[in-house]
Order: sequence, then C-alpha cells, then structure tokens
Amino acid sequence: MKKIAPSILSADFSKLAAEIKEVEEAGAEYIHVDVMDGHFVPNITIGPLVVSAIRPTTNLTLDVHLMIDNPDQYIADFASAGADIITVHLEACTHLHRTISAIKEHGKKAGVVINPATPVELVKPILADIDLLLFMTVNPGFGGQTFIPSVLEKIKLADQWRKEKNLDIEFEVDGGINAETAKWCAEAGVDVFVAGNAIFGQPNRKEAMDVIRKAINE
Ligand code: DX5
Ligand code: ZN
Repeated sequence: MKKIAPSILSADFSKLAAEIKEVEEAGAEYIHVDVMDGHFVPNITIGPLVVSAIRPTTNLTLDVHLMIDNPDQYIADFASAGADIITVHLEACTHLHRTISAIKEHGKKAGVVINPATPVELVKPILADIDLLLFMTVNPGFGGQTFIPSVLEKIKLADQWRKEKNLDIEFEVDGGINAETAKWCAEAGVDVFVAGNAIFGQPNRKEAMDVIRKAINE
C-alpha cells in the first residue's frame, strides 16, 4: 500500500504535537523529520532533542532524514531519541555500507538518499542491504521547491532492479510533491510520498492528504 509521510518542516513548530496529531488522524503513515546541519545543506533545522520530544506524541513511524555531514557520529543519538527509520545521504558517507550496518545494529530501519544529480547506479551495490531508498526530487535544504522531473528516470531504473532481484525495499520521494508530481512518481514505482508544503501549507490537512492519496492510488 502506498504511504504518505507529511514533512514537519512545513508545520507550525510552536504546536508540533497538535500538527502531528492532525495528520495522524487524517491517515498519515509516516512522519518525516528533516534534520539539517548548515554544512551538508545550507539550512539548520532540528536535532535529536526534537525527535525525542515528538516521540511520545505519536505511534506513527518516525522517518528521520539526515541532511548532515558525518552521519555516523549521530546515529546512536537519533536511535535513542526514537527514530524508526534513519536515512543517510550517499553523498555524506565515505563508507556507506558501514553506516548502513551501524543503523541496523541499533535496531532501526536503514535508508539511503540520493540527490537529484547523483546517479542511481551508485546505490546498486547496497540495494539488498537497505530498507528504504529515498530519491530527492529537489536539491535538499528547503521546503516549497519545484519538483525535478529527470529523477523519474532514475526511479524507473531502480524499480527494474528491484523487480529483477525481488528486493524488499521501499522507494520514497521527497521535494515538490503534490497530487500531480506524486502521480508521476507512483507510476514510476514509488511507495512513500513525503510532502511538506502540499500538506502543512494547506488550511485543511485532511483534504490536502486525500487529494494526494487519490492521485497515487488511481
Ligand atoms: C527538503 C526536505 C523535504 C521538505 C519537502 O530538503 O528534505 O522533506 O520538507 O518539502 P516540500 O514538500 O514542501 O517540497
Ligand atoms: Zn526530507
């Protein structure tokens, strides 16, 4: 079943628990948490402290997207803060296989994310080792950017590899996702749809999610 992962980056941080509750009641499957360090990306957001604060407010899967340099240094912190999925950028990992193993040793699901300009061939060697492959469909750092359509070709290629090898791995997209772009991604093989602005930027989050859900299940 296709899943929706509202990104709290576009939520009202002064009432995060209520924001999360609202999308949980509207049927969200994951809560997407964007961690930015001001080095790997030109923006600073939140750290393990906020993850541990929201952990008791929801039973949903916390999908933690690390846009940080040296992710190895922080895996233990995010694991103990209550992340369920920890996703690291291939571009930030010197020894990607080691980083994936470290996430799993903490009992968490391991995700890898690639930027729009990164060839998908680079993740082929580790596809069997991960639970989630995240395709950035914007350059990471900010919400509200425009979807980059060339990523669709990478998703289709990876979907062929997934089918050939019968791999149990979720494909996720992040950036510029709305009903229209989500539909293109669903057709290319995507399972999990991150959306910030298209959900938290709307007055009625349930209606916003229903529109996306309808588009991805058509
Ligand atoms: C961007 C973040 C995204 C962001 C998406 O770097 O990784 O998760 O919140 O926001 P929208 O859906 O508004 O493009
Ligand atoms: Zn993200």
